[in-house]
Amino acid sequence: MNILIVGGGGREHAIAAALKRSPKVEKLFCAPGNAGISRIAECFPVKATDLDGIVELSKKLKPDYVFVAPDDPLVLGLVDRLNEAGFKTFGPRANAAILEGSKAFSKALMKKYGIPTAAYETFTDAAKAIEYIKEKNSYPAVIKCDGLALGKGVIIAQDLAEAEDAVKSMMIDQKFGKSGAEVVIEEFMDGTEVTVLAFTDGKTVKPMVSSMDHKRAFDNDEGLNTGGMGTIAPNPLYTNEIAEECMKNIFVPTVNAMRTEDRPFKGCLYFGLMLTKEGAKVVEYNCRFGDPETQVVLPLLETDLVDIIEAVYEEKLDGLDIKWSGNSCACVVMASGGYPEKYETGKEISGLNEDGQLSDGSAFVYHAGTKLENGKFLTSGGRVLGVTATGGDLSSALDSAYKAVGEISFDKAHSRTDIGRRALSQNK
Ligand code: AMP
Ligand code: GLY
Repeated sequence: MNILIVGGGGREHAIAAALKRSPKVEKLFCAPGNAGISRIAECFPVKATDLDGIVELSKKLKPDYVFVAPDDPLVLGLVDRLNEAGFKTFGPRANAAILEGSKAFSKALMKKYGIPTAAYETFTDAAKAIEYIKEKNSYPAVIKCDGLALGKGVIIAQDLAEAEDAVKSMMIDQKFGKSGAEVVIEEFMDGTEVTVLAFTDGKTVKPMVSSMDHKRAFDNDEGLNTGGMGTIAPNPLYTNEIAEECMKNIFVPTVNAMRTEDRPFKGCLYFGLMLTKEGAKVVEYNCRFGDPETQVVLPLLETDLVDIIEAVYEEKLDGLDIKWSGNSCACVVMASGGYPEKYETGKEISGLNEDGQLSDGSAFVYHAGTKLENGKFLTSGGRVLGVTATGGDLSSALDSAYKAVGEISFDKAHSRTDIGRRALSQNK
């Protein structure tokens, strides 16, 4: 089987590595890919958001499946376009990807079907939004852009001044473009965050092992929100009891709600959850694998990912038993100094062999923002590498990942030193 992966970050590298393990896969293609991915898949310089370009490329390569990994092409309807052109796909159609594409849509869906989430209101008028915040007079206040914003369109305002600034930057200054034309203002939820990715064919939902992202730029959850600075899996705070509660109150109702609305969701559904005193609640849905959650979840998958892709496409997930290794996995992101704000690129990365890996194989180095020039790996993005290791337990996985980080360097590299620390301490 030949598979084309659409996307070019650490998540896509992890997907490519998981597919590479399948005895059923003959050729792997990736568009646009990156320097690390190019060592295991043939890469083509077509942007993920260039829908015409990806359809054309598919016609040329004739893959058996096209796996669409990032949010924007899914929300823009790449899967619809590929299906129309006769290609089999992994990923939701646009009418289901809206679960991530519009927070106003997803909040309304949860309200309609009684799925637990923070209370909220939506606004298309900045003055009315500010009036509402004043009226509520409850801080922190959570202000979100309706649309996609690279994980950065959420502001937790500690007082009225910050809330006013947030509304102004989104709605008037249009810092996130059209994404901020409508905003969601919601109640602050106190608790611990857990990510659960789930395979679904629109009818059956099969959760993967849980994980924990670390979204803030610096140790102790300080600094700005980023795309994610590191992950661990499984998340020790997500007990079997909580998993059962989520299955019953959140996962199954969400998949059923989407089917009832004539928007069957096929692909990977990302549940961002907050474990609060009143139980688990949805923080957000994403219509795709998480980045860097995928980097720690897929290495623990024992079932052939190709079998899952086929079962999802054919709507036969019900009959497939999905197995996990029982090990733990940790990913530490090495980012360019300055990320998520301004940073420099083009820095030479040392410590990697010609495959972009560590020679001793003690960790897997997922490339997020790298390029190859004259045989050298250079940085080309904010998040550069996701250094990932598995182990019999979380602490050994973390030890291996951090040891590997110590062997890789580039100018102004930044990584958090406390990935997994909170999970380890709360686990005791
Ligand atoms: P989102 O893009 O909706 O996942 O929001 C980004 C991050 O903001 C989440 O991962 C949470 O850490 C935080 N967040 C979002 N909504 C809330 C909320 N209602 N209460 C507390 N924290 C939130
Ligand atoms: N790691 C968060 C996300 O993929 O949205």
